[in-house]
Amino acid sequence: MVRPHRIAAIPGDGIGQEVIAAGIEVLEALAEREGLRFTFDHFDWGSAYYRRHGVMMPADGLAAIRDHDAIFFGAVGAPDVPDHVTLWGLRLAICQPFDQYANVRPTRILPGITSPLRNVSGPELDWVIVRENSEGEYAGVGGRVHRGLPEEVATDVSMMTRAGVARIMRYAFALARSRPRKLLTVVTKSNAQRHAMVMWDEIAAEVAAEFPDVTWDKMLVDAMTMRMTLRPETLDTVVATNLHADILSDLAAALAGSLGIAPTANINPERRFPSMFEPIHGSAFDITGKGIANPIGTFWTATLMLDHLGEPRAAARLMRAIERVTADPSLHTPDLGGQATTRQVTDAVVAAIRGDNA
Ligand code: NAI
Ligand code: MG
Repeated sequence: MVRPHRIAAIPGDGIGQEVIAAGIEVLEALAEREGLRFTFDHFDWGSAYYRRHGVMMPADGLAAIRDHDAIFFGAVGAPDVPDHVTLWGLRLAICQPFDQYANVRPTRILPGITSPLRNVSGPELDWVIVRENSEGEYAGVGGRVHRGLPEEVATDVSMMTRAGVARIMRYAFALARSRPRKLLTVVTKSNAQRHAMVMWDEIAAEVAAEFPDVTWDKMLVDAMTMRMTLRPETLDTVVATNLHADILSDLAAALAGSLGIAPTANINPERRFPSMFEPIHGSAFDITGKGIANPIGTFWTATLMLDHLGEPRAAARLMRAIERVTADPSLHTPDLGGQATTRQVTDAVVAAIRGDNA
């Protein structure tokens, strides 16, 4: 009897529902092909839950998913609920207590996808961005006083700790070392921010000494946007703060063809808590219910989840199926300039999994 992988599915809002349903179908097909078992427990947390209960998830929600092997998350956000309520009420309410401090975002140009960069055909752009996911600019430190009065004051304080910076640097250097080029770029802004970002740079240099086989360099975040656009082939693994990587990874997703393709993993490397896997995109209410959400970002996300679950063979099979499907422009959804539906792309990936005799 194969031990099942217990997955907590949290589709959330908007197209999150559509792409997670597609992702589960694909994982079931993969399980059949690879002799794996998944059990999916579904949680209806999100904006609809908020309208009924006044909270995005129940008070004992974390306890309900704490013992799962992984969390498969769609997106949160609705037009009638403020974004800071949905984001802090659900996504960050899971990431932070489960200490998923490493947010890993692979980017490359899949077969059949055209990059907006004129000189990039594919191999020139193959990156993994590591985002610090527990502190920094999104630590939630700050406050607002004298609301609405002329003397109103509001602060969002970026908070960096030596422990927090050292652990993300170690994670990024180790990841860089596991990739063929062993190349890491540390993104910073220590010219303008002369306290925390200077400490960030110092700790990067200290941790680098533990990884003599990794070549690394440092780049100011503004210059980084130019380098990503003009010299993408000079980058491989990238580490950046919570805010910087948030922005750079949306740029990376756009350069790789579409936000609808991009995957991400929120990892607790020590495995004290479950890690969470989600497409980068949001709930996309402009296309919700139309059946045209691109599920590829969710499928790619599922490969990251399979790797984390110790199923690299299944992850590789799923990635081959994804690449077979993206290679065929008749299976591109509208965000990629095509006319395919979520249903057609999902069916094609399932067929590719079944038909792959490797
Ligand atoms: P978004 O990612 O939802 O959409 C941006 C644009 O990309 C839209 O035009 C959308 O149609 C398109 N798009 C996104 N994913 C797609 C897919 N899979 N297939 C085809 N097209 C796709 O970002 P937006 O519009 O800024 O935010 C909408 C809501 O989502 C907001 O409430 C926001 O707070 C939330 N959000 C949630 C995230 C999360 O849960 N991790 C991440 C980003 C946004
Ligand atoms: Mg973002």
